[in-house]
Amino acid sequence: MCGIVGIVGVRPVAERLVDALKRLEYRGYDSAGVATVHDGRLDRRRAEGKLFNLEARLAGEPLAGNSGIAHTRWATHGVPNEANAHPHFSGGVAVVHNGIIENFAEIRNELIASGAVFASQTDTEVVAQLISANLKAGMSPRAAVRAMLKRVTGAYALAILFESDPDTIFAARSGPPLAIGYGDTEMYLGSDAIALAPFTSQVAYLVDGDWAVITRTGAEIMDFDGNPVQRIRQQSTASAYVVIDKGNHRHFMEKEIYEQPEAISHTLGHYIDFAESRIRPVAGIDFTNLASVAISACGTAYLAGLTSKYWFERYARLPVEIDVASEFRYREVPLVANSAALFISQSGETADTLASLRYCREAGLKIGAVVNVRESTIARESDAIFPILAGPEIGVASTKAFTSQLTVLASLAIAAGRQRGTITPEREKALVGHLAEMPRVMSAVLNRIQPKMEMLARDLSKFKDVLYLGRGTSFPIAMEGALKLKEISYIHAEGYAAGELKHGPIALIDENMPVIVIAPHDRFFEKTVSNMQEVAARGGRIILITDEAGAAATDLPTMATIVLPDVDEAIQPMIFALPIQLLAYHTAVFMGTDVDQPRNLAKSVTVE
Ligand code: M6R
Repeated sequence: MCGIVGIVGVRPVAERLVDALKRLEYRGYDSAGVATVHDGRLDRRRAEGKLFNLEARLAGEPLAGNSGIAHTRWATHGVPNEANAHPHFSGGVAVVHNGIIENFAEIRNELIASGAVFASQTDTEVVAQLISANLKAGMSPRAAVRAMLKRVTGAYALAILFESDPDTIFAARSGPPLAIGYGDTEMYLGSDAIALAPFTSQVAYLVDGDWAVITRTGAEIMDFDGNPVQRIRQQSTASAYVVIDKGNHRHFMEKEIYEQPEAISHTLGHYIDFAESRIRPVAGIDFTNLASVAISACGTAYLAGLTSKYWFERYARLPVEIDVASEFRYREVPLVANSAALFISQSGETADTLASLRYCREAGLKIGAVVNVRESTIARESDAIFPILAGPEIGVASTKAFTSQLTVLASLAIAAGRQRGTITPEREKALVGHLAEMPRVMSAVLNRIQPKMEMLARDLSKFKDVLYLGRGTSFPIAMEGALKLKEISYIHAEGYAAGELKHGPIALIDENMPVIVIAPHDRFFEKTVSNMQEVAARGGRIILITDEAGAAATDLPTMATIVLPDVDEAIQPMIFALPIQLLAYHTAVFMGTDVDQPRNLAKSVTVE
């Protein structure tokens, strides 16, 4: 995952590189480093932990130099300490890397056999050592980089700086994203356009198999065989002025939870024609005669996709094949021609989701991307982009992106139903009416339940394990509740289809494992109540999240009952997502974890 940035400049770069890293911290935050060339000498500062540690190091020992590269790390090979932090040095070569060099062990052993001494446990160091060995063998920097690229396998975005040539940065891409930024007198390199936004809005994206020689005046881009290639220079929409602050909130996650009514309004404005009470025509994918839709994504985005399976099947009578992208990409799914595929990703850069997309493209399917970042690789490789318009999501735990993804997917399912003639205009009008209610209902819910969720979180924080149950579209919401709780509070949590309880998880039920039941008063309610009875009969503690009709229809004793307004089944997932987000958030705050940057995680997962 990791973020990388580079500047070939005309004025000092260290501070600017660290500022750019701040915009990439969502990609990893376990250590960071910066290297520059000054007076013909490579030098670096590195620090374990968050970027402020690197800033403190630089404040004490500043780095001069007008060219440099920098890195914020999410550890793959080697613990997150200073020795493993990038940039890695070898014989006048500095390297920063995002990805995994898969044949590093073999190369490392060869280099050690010929006398190399390694200073880190990382896979990346072989890149620096290999280039420096090539230099020693008499190659020029350009030839040494090219020979290295021919030797390494795996996934990488690389930036390489030579002590002997401070006016050039070499870059290469095989997998993780890399953008070149064009300035007037300087040139830039970064993992994304957002990192480069304070410097320039003119960017060109490298594609897999590209490498580039970047100087102050331009970039020469080639394929790995050395043939020149043209990559379109485009105007980036990433803004240097995006205010990345928490407003009056303690954490980005809290801010993003409360932004949901507004975010959903934007999303609805894009997809709904309010004058006609219908979903606007969908450009790029014609659902009319499709045999099926394949959906793939990871984490929370996958759970949005799983929720939408119920909608596509119900409203559009369209069969959905869905799997987590890390399985989908290798399963050899027999894809039916005349199908479409949807890939859901907040970042648009998730490696497994991108690989699944490419698998479907090879099979000739029409590709749709449900993304937040419109300039992302997934968006750029799709036939149709369905933006979720959630605005920047900084907290690693996804909240507003999830409900915005659900809103887009519900809109697409309704549009598909219209195209396929499986819902009437009246039904579409009614569904659109329910969608349009969401911002108002969300605001009311957030205001109403906050104090109760805070109190409940205090109780929940005493437990080590939590089970979430739900049926129908509440099943993916149960899984999302468990994912949210575990990733930020570190409490072990699992989400299950309520009907699966008696097929195993019921063995775990006792007074030490609260069971959070997501049970709106829908067509599954009675069945879910039976499952709650089974939990109660075994001394389990129930936290019931229901609506007014549901609360009136059961008198089972609970540890707590959270009551939401009655809403149509079509929007229950978006509304019931709110209490599970708040519960996870307040539990994590109460436990004192790093809510926005939980341990071991990163916002953008660009390695598989
Ligand atoms: O950027 P993406 O939506 O592709 O990311 C997918 C997952 O990594 C992401 O949803 C992850 O599960 C979140 N941390 C969950 O809160």
